[in-house]
Amino acid sequence: METTCVRLQSATVDVIIKTHPFAEILYWGAHLSDFSPQDVATLERPVANGKLDVDAPVTLMAEPGHGLFGSPGIEGHRSGLDGSPVFTTVHCEQHDGSLTLLSEDTRAGLRLQSEISLDASGVLKIRHGLTNVRAGAWQVDRLAVTLPVAERAQEVMAFHGRWTREFQPHRVALTHDSFVLESRRGRSSHEHFPALIAGSTGFSEMQGDVWGAHLGWSGNHRMRCEVKTDGRRYMQAEALYLPGEMALGEGETLWTPWLYASHSANGLNGMSQQYHRFLRELVIRFPENKPRPVHLNTWEGIYFNHSPAYIMQMAEDAAALGVERFIIDDGWFKGRNDDRAALGDWYLDTQKYPDGLKPVIDHVKNQGMEFGIWVEPEMINPNSDLYRAHPEWVLALPDYPQATGRHQLVLNLNIPAAFDYLLERMSWLLGEHDIDYVKWDMNRELVQPGHNGKAAADAQTRQYYRLLDTLRTRFPDVEFESCASGGGRIDYGVLTRCHRFWPSDNNDALERNAIQRGMSYFFPPEVMGAHIGNRHCHATFRQHSIAFRGLTALFGHMGLELDPTNADAGEREGYRHYAALYKQWREVIHSGTQWRVDMPDATTQVQGVVSQDKRQALFSVSQLAMPDYSLMPPLRVPGLEASARYRTTLLDHPNIQLTGEGGHTMRKLPAWMTGTQTVSGAWLMQAGMSLPVLDPESAILIGFERV
Ligand code: GLA
Repeated sequence: METTCVRLQSATVDVIIKTHPFAEILYWGAHLSDFSPQDVATLERPVANGKLDVDAPVTLMAEPGHGLFGSPGIEGHRSGLDGSPVFTTVHCEQHDGSLTLLSEDTRAGLRLQSEISLDASGVLKIRHGLTNVRAGAWQVDRLAVTLPVAERAQEVMAFHGRWTREFQPHRVALTHDSFVLESRRGRSSHEHFPALIAGSTGFSEMQGDVWGAHLGWSGNHRMRCEVKTDGRRYMQAEALYLPGEMALGEGETLWTPWLYASHSANGLNGMSQQYHRFLRELVIRFPENKPRPVHLNTWEGIYFNHSPAYIMQMAEDAAALGVERFIIDDGWFKGRNDDRAALGDWYLDTQKYPDGLKPVIDHVKNQGMEFGIWVEPEMINPNSDLYRAHPEWVLALPDYPQATGRHQLVLNLNIPAAFDYLLERMSWLLGEHDIDYVKWDMNRELVQPGHNGKAAADAQTRQYYRLLDTLRTRFPDVEFESCASGGGRIDYGVLTRCHRFWPSDNNDALERNAIQRGMSYFFPPEVMGAHIGNRHCHATFRQHSIAFRGLTALFGHMGLELDPTNADAGEREGYRHYAALYKQWREVIHSGTQWRVDMPDATTQVQGVVSQDKRQALFSVSQLAMPDYSLMPPLRVPGLEASARYRTTLLDHPNIQLTGEGGHTMRKLPAWMTGTQTVSGAWLMQAGMSLPVLDPESAILIGFERV
């Protein structure tokens, strides 16, 4: 009980937490080169007139009982009683970068355990566990993690989206009241990615104080940024509970999902770089030193039209292009000829595959590739043998009609027999076949999710985690991808259980530039599936050159989403070229520091990676639309070693650049593009290098090698 103020620190971030009599985060910001606990006295607040006579702290649980009139961190009751707990710290333990606090309210019969840690990367992790220690259920309406941010956080950035258009950033001024986003769709969702970024006015990629917060949870959630009437502000993140869904019996504990928070004094790049480092060091499970293989996924190539002979031909053609992992998408199981039937019937379609899957898998492996397969275990089509046998296995409330989505319903994983059935079928698939990789899909939202008449969205998400965890334990060598109609289930909760995400069903390179950039704020390139799609994009009907598609897919985990067998020679040559370029650079892309560059013209999007030792760097410049200005400003290349010299090479470019005189918008290339030269890192970072005038929907790639 002697400690009253705890400091957690990393090279870039400090967190100062008052622990007694109640816990309060006093400071979360840039690393302090010097600090002593008595310094916090300077922050003791005055009491304003016309208000309560006491100071109202924003405590860890943001209890209204302290005189806080904003959004509380806890709401609930015991049949109407014990509804306004106020916690007092009873125990506090610090180990290096982590702090565990135990607090209680003996009047309300509740105990709280708080775990707070600051990793070397600068990422702050917080979660709370609430225990009911008295007889009679305590109904939990809300249980949130609350995190104060500095008053200069005057803007909030969040992401909106929809199917085929995920991770679109938008900003609002944070001056009064709250900004709230909620997902009630039973997944992290395309629409409301569970994250908020608060920042100082005009914060950008390179500048400003930013405070990012992400909730690692794949179900319903609520994220809030609240401004108190006294000007203080805080972020709040929670799993969202439907009415009556969450109650704690005596002795039971409810944990919030982890909140992952990253502050940077150097703009959004600093925030993202800390998240990426944290994930690489502590979360992403991937066989060490194994490069991420080039994929070919069959979906947009053949859809439901499976013929083993043709698929084997596709595999041969894919291998010849440099593909390293071949994935059979939807359409392989019994009766699955379109998207109207068969989900739930996880048996091989022997009409399509009379000799079983083995010959196909063997053929893929004989080409030197790994083999992957698609599943969507949580779903059931009304037109399926499973539904005909078990209509009662649907996740629903009795006596209400249940809307279908993509002609399908959701299986209630809370029914033990349904859970066991899926576990058995998935174990058959992974146990009886030589499968390296599973694309796990989830193509509809939860509507009135019910189990035994009660709301069960939270329970369904937990059962999904349990099913995936059980399969991971049984088949530790199998890699999983999380897909939900593209990017409907992307978050750190599922990332602790999978290896890769499918960010979007939209492979249009122009749209992908925006989607992948949005995703990069919280995820490093190696977990971002990025496939070269057909020249005529299936989602938008736009057409893009192979160069634009190839360079867009480079800054992720590259693959092809097409049929190589019916592609023309020019296209095939392009696939081969970009697969090889990816292999050449993937180690740098998947381990280096990622940068997004601020450009004055929003139609120009620049991103890159610099290797950890700063010996190599790779930057792409994508021209998304017709530029505003006739010349682009010089590209100031971030992250290099100032005292080093770099050989600068144009690695890839649309053909138009080679015509020199008489191109559409450019008569003469910048001088550096016509050869290789060495330039000082300091000069490249401060003065930069001229860029060519690019046509809309084209890109170039520049490489830097330290000499
Ligand atoms: C979803 C996925 C696609 C594909 C189809 C198959 O839409 O996002 O990539 O797997 O399902 O039905």
